Amino acid sequence: MSHDDFPTDHPAVVTCGLPYANGDLHIGHLRTYVGGDVYARALERLGQETAFVSGSDMHGTPVAVNAEQEGVSPEAFALDWHERYAETFPKFNVAFDNYGHTHDETNTEITQQLVRDLEEAGHVYEKEIMVAYDPVDDQYLPDRYVEGTCPYCGAHARGDECDEGCQRHLEPGEVEDPVSTITGNPAEYRERTHEFFEVSAFSEYLSGFLDRLEGTSNARNQPREWIEQGLQDWCITRDMDWGIDLPGENPQDLVLYVWVDAPIEYVSSTKQYSERVGSDVFDWEAAWKEGADDDHPEGGEIVHVIGRDIIQHHTIFWPAMLEATGHAEPRAVMASGFVTLGGKGFSTSRDRAVWADEYLEEGFHPDPLRYYLATNGGFQQDVDFSWEKFRDRVNTELVGTVGNFLYRSLLFAHRNYEDAPIADATSDEVADRIDEAIADVEAAVNDYSVRALGDAVTDLARFGNEYIQHNEPWKLVDDEPEEAARVIHDCVAIARAIAVLFEPIAPEKCERLWDQLGEGGSVHDVTVDAAREAPEGDLSEPEELFEKVEDDRVEELNAKLESRVAEAEDDEGDETADEGDDEDHETDDTATEEPMTDIDPISDDRISFEEFQELDVRVGRIEEAEEIEGADDLLKLRVDLGAETRTIVAGLKGLHAVEELPGTKVVVLANMKKAELFGVESNGMVLAAGEEADLLTTHENAEPGTKVL
Ligand code: 2FM
Ligand code: ZN
Repeated sequence: MSHDDFPTDHPAVVTCGLPYANGDLHIGHLRTYVGGDVYARALERLGQETAFVSGSDMHGTPVAVNAEQEGVSPEAFALDWHERYAETFPKFNVAFDNYGHTHDETNTEITQQLVRDLEEAGHVYEKEIMVAYDPVDDQYLPDRYVEGTCPYCGAHARGDECDEGCQRHLEPGEVEDPVSTITGNPAEYRERTHEFFEVSAFSEYLSGFLDRLEGTSNARNQPREWIEQGLQDWCITRDMDWGIDLPGENPQDLVLYVWVDAPIEYVSSTKQYSERVGSDVFDWEAAWKEGADDDHPEGGEIVHVIGRDIIQHHTIFWPAMLEATGHAEPRAVMASGFVTLGGKGFSTSRDRAVWADEYLEEGFHPDPLRYYLATNGGFQQDVDFSWEKFRDRVNTELVGTVGNFLYRSLLFAHRNYEDAPIADATSDEVADRIDEAIADVEAAVNDYSVRALGDAVTDLARFGNEYIQHNEPWKLVDDEPEEAARVIHDCVAIARAIAVLFEPIAPEKCERLWDQLGEGGSVHDVTVDAAREAPEGDLSEPEELFEKVEDDRVEELNAKLESRVAEAEDDEGDETADEGDDEDHETDDTATEEPMTDIDPISDDRISFEEFQELDVRVGRIEEAEEIEGADDLLKLRVDLGAETRTIVAGLKGLHAVEELPGTKVVVLANMKKAELFGVESNGMVLAAGEEADLLTTHENAEPGTKVL
């Protein structure tokens, strides 16, 4: 790995956390996969040689417990889900170069070899430990077969993870007051011999690794605290039948802990990709093994994209395993926040989720969801999905800004200049603006910010709208056709740049745009340099790229969700009454299954006072308010900010009486980027709380223009 800016001349591997093959995918799961796909595509756009890999996590108790409840073998159960995932990801344009699974031959072989290497390096030892056991059922109870109380924070916890509390990994024997999740029987602890990986010996290495680690800051901060508290060695075997056998002598018939073979699938999946395309196209060993390639003895650029609930596995256990066995050190970990639904956690048991298949069956295109998931908040922040917010982002940004610019430019160009090359060259002003967008994309990749990748393009489209509005080619076309041609050539050049730069976020839509532009080949194969090239001019009849989400659709979807949740709650109530048992044996593995709350989780992504000071927040007074033609939710305001009066577009329509707004004191983010909404330029943002847009104000005599600190 290098720490040079991307693109580097090392092979890169972008991985996504492996989904447990145990149930339907919802849009909460998709956030990581969309994030990984966007990032991998963006790296490729920069010209970085990249493999994008993942696979299904087939082993472990998350699969075994669910299979047992269905009465099928874990293998058949997991394979069935694996096949479904392999079909679902491409439907969201998540295009893995290889999507394998942990139970195949490649992963079994590589895992057993890596464990042998760990043993040979002297990092594995045997230890007698207490493991949970159900005396009635005569069964050992590893991991999710047992639940109880977290010894660190007192929250209700699963055997291997404090999923409702401090999120710590728990070792066998740690959970207090253990109970079997299958039978509800109280468990006892019995002594067994297990294998341990000496993670504690890597504390110093891991501290240095965290100092070097790139990606999101949450992936560095949490593990630093764990190291300071002292690392424990890690039990790498389990009393189970389902899993990869511990290699070598194995008198107790132990399998490896699922978290040993799961990340190794990153390596195995890359190997399978290499074998398919040839190592001259992508050399998995050069990427993963230290010393395999003379030019890059330190290995490739490994970027792990994960949910924030599995940071510990990717920043402590996994890098220690890699370091101990001569593998490349990961360069970056991008750990995403959770997705909530209308402010509450997803719940499989309550059917409170927007399912991946359901989203598509409702007739929505995958790319708007990709845009929403990729750009709604920073990657490490939690994102709240609601159909209303989805509608607003799609209608305002994709339809109102990007789609609107593309359609008006391409329609005008097609009608007036269909077959002719339209102008000799792109103007300096527009060429510079495109260069700026390319620089924004490069910076976003190097900042590991998928949101900034989206912003780079919406900002460019905003510029495009201002440019066409300002130059009014429709007024020039009769009297000054050359000048009109120059303007419209510039607009088509911007459209072409959008196709190239937006491809990571909206790959299918950008391919269609590429066709409309009459470009040959596929937009998936070009690099950012193509954004600088002049358009060919062979345009076809444009079509609107993005579709508006109508209000009645939102109402319909909310009603469906509510009635589903009510039904699931009724069923749950019936079962509870029948069984006289109110235990919820929840086996959904999604970390979004948080305790229900109506409040969005508070971000743990802290900012400094200096960063806060970058926000220029002022007291304002609304002078005028009026509706905007065609906009369902927006009002155009004139707001007095002391030194000047600004036009600000705000989503207040229907929530505040228009005639009552003038005279209201508000709080305004004055240095918000300008945005064009329904043809009106908004110059600032009025701050309001919640879905009802409760306006922030002051309670004393602060005059318009006063700074808010
Ligand atoms: O937590 C999970 O869903 C695991 N299946 C993630 C595994 S990621 C990797 F390291 F393999
Ligand atoms: Zn805890």
